[in-house]
Amino acid sequence: MITGKTRVAAVVGRPIAHSLSPILHNAWLAAAGIDGVYVALEVDELGFASFVEGLRGTSLSGVNVTLPHKEAALAAAHEAHPRARRAQAANLLVFDEYGAIYADNTDGLGLIAAFAEQAPQFDPAGGPVVVVGAGGAAKGAVGALIDAGCPDVRIVNRTLARAEGLAREVGGSAFALDDTEAAFHGARAVINATSAGLADGQTLRLPLEATPEDCVAMDMVYKPLVTPFLVQARDLGRPTVDGLAMLIGQARPSFEAFFGQAPPQDTDVRKLALEALGL
Ligand code: ATR
Repeated sequence: MITGKTRVAAVVGRPIAHSLSPILHNAWLAAAGIDGVYVALEVDELGFASFVEGLRGTSLSGVNVTLPHKEAALAAAHEAHPRARRAQAANLLVFDEYGAIYADNTDGLGLIAAFAEQAPQFDPAGGPVVVVGAGGAAKGAVGALIDAGCPDVRIVNRTLARAEGLAREVGGSAFALDDTEAAFHGARAVINATSAGLADGQTLRLPLEATPEDCVAMDMVYKPLVTPFLVQARDLGRPTVDGLAMLIGQARPSFEAFFGQAPPQDTDVRKLALEALGL
């Protein structure tokens, strides 16, 4: 039952109705017996800054932030974790009792957690990892890999200049799409952080066969859960990691920030998310 004491957290974005975050957080709240609720709020670009400003010093403990507000979320904060500053984006805002806003970015933690769960044999510090893409998603992945000790992050992108910019800003080395095979040589994992196949209906065909046989393929997209890239990897018999594991992995530290304790380990939120996806 929702009472006057119920703690409230939310995910803010646009569009937001299909967000899986409320399903994850509310299942954890119920399992942990916490008097709390997690809702999805649609806020447009024009309203975002004043929305966040208005939440300062309220009883709302924080919000997750998704597209298109991740950059604006960082800008709205008074303080930010270095990983959020480096990613130039925040997916988590926490409000303290004095009205200060603290930003963090847990997407990278989610990425590493997804590997730990679905490809535990992969060691991010164990060799080269390829990130395909150079947008916001790729930026977060490159930073997370460097933080996890990856000695050689290789950024492949259609627009080479963007890969070079990302390498300069965050780290790693840049490769053009024409040089993908060279980038794939000896790779321990390949992470697809492009939006190819999402909006424009185009799919990106990568020479995955140039990677070692035990190279892990990971796609940050979870709709579809098994992307064309993961289908290609599975056809080659490669281990795969999906974007839903990353979504759940980024939600865990957010839950802890909102409700003061880690989510219960034994709740099968993946099953609930798959049901919500119709799978
Ligand atoms: P996000 O912030 O979600 O990562 P983005 O900044 O729009 O989104 O970046 C999209 C990424 O997908 C870019 O790396 C883009 O390549 P370009 O930098 O060359 O634009 C990549 N991408 C999108 N569609 C692609 C396609 N059809 N083939 C190859 N790369 C594609």
